[in-house]
Amino acid sequence: MTRRKLAAGNWKMNGQAAELAELEALTSTCPTPGVDVLICPPATLIDRMTGLLDRLGASTATGGQDCHSAETGAHTGDIAATMLADAGATYVILGHSERRQDHGESNADVQAKITAAWSADLIAILCIGETEAEYKTGQTLDILHQQLAGSLPDSADAARLVIAYEPVWAIGTGLVPTLDEIAAAHGFIRSALTTRYGADTAQGIRLLYGGSVKPGNATEIFSVPDVDGALVGGASLKASDFSAIITALEAAPAA
Ligand code: 13P
Repeated sequence: MTRRKLAAGNWKMNGQAAELAELEALTSTCPTPGVDVLICPPATLIDRMTGLLDRLGASTATGGQDCHSAETGAHTGDIAATMLADAGATYVILGHSERRQDHGESNADVQAKITAAWSADLIAILCIGETEAEYKTGQTLDILHQQLAGSLPDSADAARLVIAYEPVWAIGTGLVPTLDEIAAAHGFIRSALTTRYGADTAQGIRLLYGGSVKPGNATEIFSVPDVDGALVGGASLKASDFSAIITALEAAPAA
């Protein structure tokens, strides 16, 4: 099965209306990207960004960075998956390490959010990855196993699920695992998905690498088997950097 490559930008808590100009710059550099391009801005910008993309006619999607597991209710400050969809989002990032750390999100919380995202017809990007201490003590694959086991719902539609391997110690640090380490993690994730959902479904689920992806390292990261794209933080904020990453992904070997 061919998996469509995905270049996803996570703007985190960065960006106001003025930064939508970066999007215009991006779509003029990459007007018809040969890969799926996604930007997950702060929730306040999803509606405007989606409208802008529609006007520009670019084949680019918007997504949320989190959602609540309930559809409505007394949850001050939270956003339901249906609200993200209503604003124009088609994806949502779930279980990002910053949510797990800053908001104490457990694997069970993340599992409930994925179910909510699917009910709202959103594609869920599940983030998993080990901390620096876990990496240094050789626990990476154990942690990935635990996070997958606890966060994934019992059945899955490959078209609605993306997994992002983001080592916590590589996020925003400029540090990146070796290509062999990325290959081992992605191979492990693919085989865990095969055990869980069967080969047909597992082969259709896209696996992204995230953590200090930059124009200078994107080509070598995209050459690793089972890397179907990237979840990019800092470098997605600048159109010139993100478009260079998109170009590197377009040139990468097919999955
Ligand atoms: P950086 O690309 O800034 O390291 O962030 C990665 C990330 O957390 C994407 O979700």
